[in-house]
Amino acid sequence: MNHIKRAVLTLCLVASGAVLAAPVGVTIDTTKPGPVINKNIYGQFAEHLGTGIYEGIWVGPKSKIPNVNGWRKDVVGALKAMHVPLVRWPGGCFADEYHWRDGIGAREKRPVKVNTNWGGVEENNAVGTHEFFELAEQLGAETYVNGNLGTGSAQEMSEWVEYMTSDSKSTLAELRRKNGRDKPFKVDYFAIGNEAWGCGGNMSPQHYANLYKNVETFLRAPPQYRPKMIASGGNDHDLTWTETLSKELKKQTYGISFHYYTIPTGQWEVKGMATGFKEDQWFSTLSNTIKMDGFIKNNTAVMDKYDPEKKLGFLVDEWGTWYDVEKGTNAGFLFQQNTLRDAVVAALNFNIFHDHADRVRMTNIAQMVNVLQAMIITDKDKMVLTPTYHAFQMYVPFQDATSLPLKLTNNPQYSYNGSSIPEISASAARAKDGKLYLALVNTNPTKEAEIAVDVPGQAIKSVNGRVLTSAAMDTHNSFQSPEAIKPAPFSATAGADGKLTVKIPAKAVIVVAVE
Ligand code: AHR
Repeated sequence: MNHIKRAVLTLCLVASGAVLAAPVGVTIDTTKPGPVINKNIYGQFAEHLGTGIYEGIWVGPKSKIPNVNGWRKDVVGALKAMHVPLVRWPGGCFADEYHWRDGIGAREKRPVKVNTNWGGVEENNAVGTHEFFELAEQLGAETYVNGNLGTGSAQEMSEWVEYMTSDSKSTLAELRRKNGRDKPFKVDYFAIGNEAWGCGGNMSPQHYANLYKNVETFLRAPPQYRPKMIASGGNDHDLTWTETLSKELKKQTYGISFHYYTIPTGQWEVKGMATGFKEDQWFSTLSNTIKMDGFIKNNTAVMDKYDPEKKLGFLVDEWGTWYDVEKGTNAGFLFQQNTLRDAVVAALNFNIFHDHADRVRMTNIAQMVNVLQAMIITDKDKMVLTPTYHAFQMYVPFQDATSLPLKLTNNPQYSYNGSSIPEISASAARAKDGKLYLALVNTNPTKEAEIAVDVPGQAIKSVNGRVLTSAAMDTHNSFQSPEAIKPAPFSATAGADGKLTVKIPAKAVIVVAVE
C-alpha cells in the first residue's frame, strides 16, 4: 500500500513541478585532447542557383548597391564577421555543365547560357574564375573549385587547373595575366565532378573511379599551387561509393565527398515548410538531421578497412535543411526561410562533425546566401542574417580548436509521438585562444534542462558566452523584423560548493567559454 501512496505522491509532485529531474551531467576530459577540428568543417557552398550568387552577393561593379569589384559590401562584411573559412563554387549540379572559358575575359562579351538545372534562367557568366577568387580574397577564405566531369573532359579540367595555377609563360598562364591576374590563383581544393551518381552523369561508382583516375593524371600544377583533389562520393542511401572510392582512389585523393540533406518529412515530393510547422515537424527534422552521425559512422567504418591510417578525409560537401520552396517563388531557385529550427539543426551537425574530426575535415553547408539553409537572405539592397548565420558565428571558437572528450550522463530523451531523440547534445574543445569552449543544444521545444558541468582537475568559476533561442519554434528574421532572433549574452557562476549548473532553455543553442 505504502509504495502506491509514494508513487501517487511522486506523481503529484512531478505534476506540480515540485520535483526537479536530476541534472544532465557534462564531464569534459582536458587530459586527453582529440583531433583538431578543421576550420573547413565550417565551409560554405555558393552555386550558380537562384539568387545565391547573382543579386545575393554579386551585383556588379556598376551597381548602386555598395560593392567592391562587384561583390556586395554588406553581405561580404557579414560573411567576414562569421569567419567563413572556405567557399565551394560553382556547383553542385551547375558545375557539371559549367565551361570555365565562358567565365573569363571581358564580361560584356561572355556567352549567355541557360541554367538548365536551376529554373532555366539565363546565365550571363558575369561571375567566373577571376570574380570567384576576388570574393575568396575579400573573405580571406580558402577556395574549393568543382570541376566539370559530366559534360566536360580531362582536357578541359586540365586546362582550367593550368590557367589558374601555372606560374610559367604558357599560353594559358599568359591568358590569365591578360585577364588581369599575374600570380597564380590559390586553388586549395579541386573536385572532379559532383554527384556523379545523379545530376553529374548517372554513373556507377566503378565507372566514376576509372574516370577520376584518368582525369587526375592530367591535373598538373606547380607543387606549391597544386590543389588537394576531391573525389565526388555518395549519399545517405548508398555505401558502395565510399567502398569503391576508398579502395580505388586511396593514393590519388585528399578525400571523398558525401551529401545528405535534412528533409522534415523524409520525402522529396512534399518536404515540409520552413515556417508555420508544428511540433511533429520540429521533431522529425531534428530526428532526421542527427542521422548524419550514423551516416558518418557507417561510411568511415568502410574507409577504415581500406585506409586504416586515416589519410583520406570524409568531406560532407553538401548538407543542411531542404524544405518546400516559399510560395510565390521560382521553384528552381530553392529559396526557403530560416528559423530557430535551422540554427538547432546546424548546431547538432557541428557537434556531430566535431565527434568525427579525425575523418571529417571539411563540410559545406548548402548554401551561403538565399538558397536552402542560407546564412543570409537578401532582397535588392536589403539583407538579413538568419538564425543559421548566428549559429555559425557562435561556433567560431571551434574552428581549428582541439576537440576534447566529453561524457554526457543522465541525458533524457525528448520524445514525440512514440519516437525519441537525445535531449541534450554537447561538444567541447580547447580553442586557439587557449580557452575551453562548451557548446550545448537542447532539442526539447518545451522543457528547459539543467546541466551540471564538470572538468575534473579544474575548478570552474563561471561560463560566459551566448545563447540563441526564442519563444516560437519557427522564429525567423525578416526585412520587417530583422532582429526577431539573435544571440543574447549568457553566463552562469559556480555555487559555494564549487559546482556549476547551466540552465539551458527549451529549443536553444549555447556556446560558452568555461573559465
Ligand atoms: O544544393 C543544391 C543541389 O543539391 C546541388 O546542386 C546538388 O549537388 C545537390 O543535389
